[in-house]
Amino acid sequence: MSLKLDDVIDSPAFAADPFPYYRELQADDPVQWSRRWNCWVVTRYEEVRTCLQDFRRFSNVGRITGLFHRHFDAAQLAALQPLVAHYSQGLINVDPPEHTRIRKLLHDAFRPATISRLAGHVRQFVDELLAARLGAQRLEVVHDLAHPLPVQVIAELFGVPRADVNLFTRWSAGIVEFMKSPQPAFETCLRSQTSLLELRAYLRAAMAERRTRPRDDVLSLMVHAQSEGEALTEEEILGTSVTLLLGGHETTTRLLTTTILELLRHPAQLDQLRADPSLMETAVEEFLRYCGPFHRDQRVCLTDTTIGGIAIAKGDYILLMLAAANRDPEQFADPDALDLARKPNRHLAFGFGPHICLGAHLARLEMAVALGTLLASCRELRLCSDPIAWDFGFLRGPRELVIEFKR
Ligand code: HEM
Repeated sequence: MSLKLDDVIDSPAFAADPFPYYRELQADDPVQWSRRWNCWVVTRYEEVRTCLQDFRRFSNVGRITGLFHRHFDAAQLAALQPLVAHYSQGLINVDPPEHTRIRKLLHDAFRPATISRLAGHVRQFVDELLAARLGAQRLEVVHDLAHPLPVQVIAELFGVPRADVNLFTRWSAGIVEFMKSPQPAFETCLRSQTSLLELRAYLRAAMAERRTRPRDDVLSLMVHAQSEGEALTEEEILGTSVTLLLGGHETTTRLLTTTILELLRHPAQLDQLRADPSLMETAVEEFLRYCGPFHRDQRVCLTDTTIGGIAIAKGDYILLMLAAANRDPEQFADPDALDLARKPNRHLAFGFGPHICLGAHLARLEMAVALGTLLASCRELRLCSDPIAWDFGFLRGPRELVIEFKR
């Protein structure tokens, strides 16, 4: 009998190492219905990529709001109205052509040339964060580096004063709370909604200021963006800004933490990267493939159709297991090997198709600077956390990771 994901979803063994389970599903039941999550679970590379690309059959509309409609009654939905309304708007919650229009207006801000201008800031943030721990020769990677870094970078992108960065950190953590499970509790959603409303109020005030006094930041760009007579509405800017904060924060935190853990578990690769920093570009792609944080992306099926020969009904909810696809032996030779020079490496860690990650260049930059600086300033890295406690919702990463080193 083939493996039932429902039987292992909550097990510590699945959180600690989901990849053998993914492999079994790919071999025996690559499009499996989960009763626990009330959705289809797709694990093979080919099918995951097709679903990501084919927005006519597999929609982003309702990918989050569908959660609320499926799990809550009318009174609960009324109480969550601001959360539902927010997740009906913005870049990641709409399909082409509406999506294409918004994305075009953001294109300039996220081109590699624009993002590379942030390199000095990223370096400065990494240096400051590491300098604070060099004396102790001990780092709790999540708290000391991987959590604060991306939020500082996004705050810089938005032109938010450094004094307000802690607010962004708190709101980001508060909002994502409800996304940790495909079936979040009502109270969790209410708490996320409070954080969301506070962040939206802050952004609204900042947008009003940028309207009269534009600056060199993404918020000003969105407020003033015009293309062929098109502009972004206030709701679209708010929706997209929150996606930028959430999309760029915990993803990067978890990738950086899991990468440091995997390097410590693979000393030969750690030495290889230290000895040859020119490997950094392919190494970052390999970390994305091997231990990319985004395990479960979502789509809603727009029509009765099939995936991998399995009938899927209109309105069904689909989880696309990006991390499983990235270890699919049909696509990657020796998929469980961490090969820092792997090429080609057509991983799906940033998604694929119209919604492919807008912040991919920024994430790559943060990874390269953080890892490069860590390896250059810290010798004899040693893992102190054992066993690892995993956070495993849509994203996966260690809850904390203590390392020691010599200067
Ligand atoms: C390791 C870091 C990151 C990972 C693994 C990641 C992953 C992803 C994935 C898988 C998607 C596609 C979602 C879908 O298809 O529904 C996505 C979209 C997106 N990401 Fe990222 N992301 C990362 C970092 C960032 C950063 C740093 C930013 C910006 C500050 C960002 C902003 C976005 C935005 C705005 C979208 C929506 C794009 C659209 O709908 O067109 N991400 N990301």
